[in-house]
Parts: sequence; structure tokens; C-alpha cells
Amino acid sequence: MTFNPLKEKGMPLEKQLRNWHQIAGKPYNKTEVDCYTRTRQILMNGIEVEAWGFKHQLARYLEDNDDKIKLAQIGRIENTQQMTCNWMGPADQTVLETTLGYEQVAVDLTAWLAQNEPDEYVKEVFDFGLLEDFDHLYRYSQFAYAKEGIEPSSIVQGQTDVITGRPTQHHHNCNGLRKRKHYDKATASPQTKVNILTVLSGEQQTHNFYAEHGFMYGDHILRETYAEIKDVEEEHVTMYESLIDPTESMWEKLLIHEFTEVCNYYTCMEDEQDERIKKLWEIFLDMELNHLQTASELFKKYENREPEEVIGDGIIIPCRFKSQKAYVQKVLEAEAGKRLAPEGGFYKSTEELPDDWASYSVQSRLCELSAPSENAIHIGGLYNDRDIVEAKKELLDKQTDILKNGLQRKSVASNTVMPEELESMIKKHESKNKNKEKLI
Ligand SMILES: [Fe+2]
Ligand SMILES: [Fe+2]
Ligand SMILES: [Fe+2]
Ligand SMILES: [Fe+2]
Repeated sequence: MTFNPLKEKGMPLEKQLRNWHQIAGKPYNKTEVDCYTRTRQILMNGIEVEAWGFKHQLARYLEDNDDKIKLAQIGRIENTQQMTCNWMGPADQTVLETTLGYEQVAVDLTAWLAQNEPDEYVKEVFDFGLLEDFDHLYRYSQFAYAKEGIEPSSIVQGQTDVITGRPTQHHHNCNGLRKRKHYDKATASPQTKVNILTVLSGEQQTHNFYAEHGFMYGDHILRETYAEIKDVEEEHVTMYESLIDPTESMWEKLLIHEFTEVCNYYTCMEDEQDERIKKLWEIFLDMELNHLQTASELFKKYENREPEEVIGDGIIIPCRFKSQKAYVQKVLEAEAGKRLAPEGGFYKSTEELPDDWASYSVQSRLCELSAPSENAIHIGGLYNDRDIVEAKKELLDKQTDILKNGLQRKSVASNTVMPEELESMIKKHESKNKNKEKLI
């Protein structure tokens, strides 16, 4: 029999308040933690931030005093869950290390979602976003190595490749083009609704993390890179939220929010290998089942409809973290040169773009001095002769072609590392390595 969250009572709300010791919790050890425990921790923080923020938005539109209090009581619990999730990150995990963790979340989560998304149109949006976060992971890896001597493998643990994707300088678009077509709330599957809210919450929190931490290194080029990539995360929030049917009521949205929390904690609990953290996911799931009950009651009261009409009667698996290298490589080889079409919510290749494509002027203005994300490669080259990459040889051998395919013909920043330059960096690195072997 499948698990039906609507049939579960969960932990009574009055038992959900924990003491400060429990709320502040205990951090994991950054050198021992499994990379997918870290991605779950990062994602669940984002899910809780969204759950908390949404309740405050809803409360601001709500007149009924009793329901306002109910929302505030649950919101307080979301607030404590958020702290426990986020503060599981240890104090000695640097901002750049955490950043690599955030981009690993984006890559491996979006790839999983794309393969488990029933709506073909939504799947294509996931694939499109995937290649951008994949490139961010590569850009930040250059700085992690240059600034702190961190090899990306110490964070992604060989589960996620680090190599050029769709070049970041080309992720900046005219806002209107980022807007996608939205699903129809009457026909969309619960999986689609949960998938979108999950990735949206993750992207929003990535944006927030860069907003709050991007200035912390003082290095001008790194500051600018955080600013540049933060702006792309802003576009990702715009893109993913535009997939949601805007005619869903606030109560319908509340229901989907609590259901999304339930589904994510359920998956975390199933997948977690760390016994202490697994127990925490289990407790939080129990809390969310109770929140879902309240959301269902409010939905029935205000909408006079059954919650099953919106979220179905089974659990959804939205965040199964595992290595997605083969799938990402497939998308990478096919879609690095894909761009947002001028109209209709579709796509075009770089060759098909009209001369007056609206994103050209945005990109030209933003990168008129230089593209910080391109400086990342120059800096990586400075410290290592070539850029910092991690992938099997078969994929690395295709890097120059992938870059060639990913670059546009127009609005290319003046400091761009062109394929020929990358090729010569790679050759220089290889020849130095050969000499090293001879010396040994
Ligand atoms: Fe929560
Ligand atoms: Fe990203
Ligand atoms: Fe993103
Ligand atoms: Fe909740």
C-alpha cells in the first residue's frame, strides 16, 4: 500500500516546539559528510525558507484572526526547522565550499527532476536551467582553487562533473524571455507541482545565499562573479515561478507548500545514511504531516473542495540525490548552444537568433567592461596553467567543442576565453605535466 500523507495525523503542533539546544543543533563534519547529505541539508534549508516566507505573505492578506494565529504558529515551527537545517552547515565550511555545495544541489536535483517530470514542456525548462547551474559550478571551482586551494572534488566527491556548460556570460536575458508558459492547475500532475516548487525553493535560496555572502572575500573579481551569478539565480527564480498557474488560490498554494515539505522530508528520510540526520528528517516529516492537515482544513474551509484534487493521494519523490553524470553529459552535448526564443516560451539555437534578439543588449550592457565569469577561467589558468576541471577523459576531450557550441556570435565579452585559447591552455598544462613526470 502506498503512503498517503493526507491520511496521517503527524506530530501534534503543541509538541513541535523544541528547546534552543535542539533548534541550534549540531553541525556535520565537513571532511566526513557525504556530499548528498550536504545537498539535502542545503535544499531543505531552501524549502523551509520558502515555507516560512509564503506564510508571512499569506498572513498579510488574511483577515480572519484565528487563521492568522494558526499560520503564525506553524510559521514559527518552519522558522525553527530552517535554523536546524541551515545551521547543520559547520562554521569552518568556507563560503566558496558552501557555494560549490549549492551548485551541486542545483545540478543533481534539476537533472533528477528532468528525468522524472511528466510534463514535456516543464522537463525542457529543467534541462535548460540545468546547464546554467552546471556552468556556475565550474566558474566557482576556479576561485575555490585559487583562493583556498580547494579541489572541487573535496565537495562534490566525484559525483558531479566540473567542466564548462553554457557560458555564464550568456545567461543574462531580457526578463520577458525568461517567462515560460504556466501549467494548468486543473490538469497538471501533483508531481509537476511539487517538482517546480522544490527547484524554485532551491534556486531562491541560492540567490539569497549569494546576496548575503558574495561580498565576503573582498576580492574584486570574485565579488563581481557572485554578483553576476546571483543575477542568473534571480532569472532562475523568475523562470521557474512562471511555470506555476497564477490562478491557484493562496489556500491551494499553501496546500502545495506543505505537501512539498512532506514529500521532500520523506525522500530525505528514505535516502539519508547518517543516522543522526536521518532521525531529524523523520521528526521533521512528522511535523510536516501535521502542517499538511491544517493546510487541508483551511483549503476545505475556504475553497469547499477536497485536497486530493490538488495533490492527489500518494507521496511524490522530488529530491532523490545521486550522481547524474551521464544524463548531464547528454544534455550538455546537445544543448550548450540553446537560447530563449524571442517569443512563445520556446527555444532557438545561437545560429537562429535574430540580430535584434532582446537579450543581446542586456548582455552587452552588463558585460561592457568584462564578464567576471570569464575572468574566473583566466584566474584558474594562472594557478594551474589551465582551468580547474573534473570529469572523465572522454568528456574532457570534448571541452573545446562544447565551448565552441556554447558561445554566441554576438554580445561576446571582450575578455572571453575563446576555444583556441582554452586549447592552448590545455596543451601548456599537458606539456608541463609531461615534463614533471620526466623529472620524477
Ligand atoms: Fe517546515
Ligand atoms: Fe547556479
Ligand atoms: Fe540556478
Ligand atoms: Fe510546514
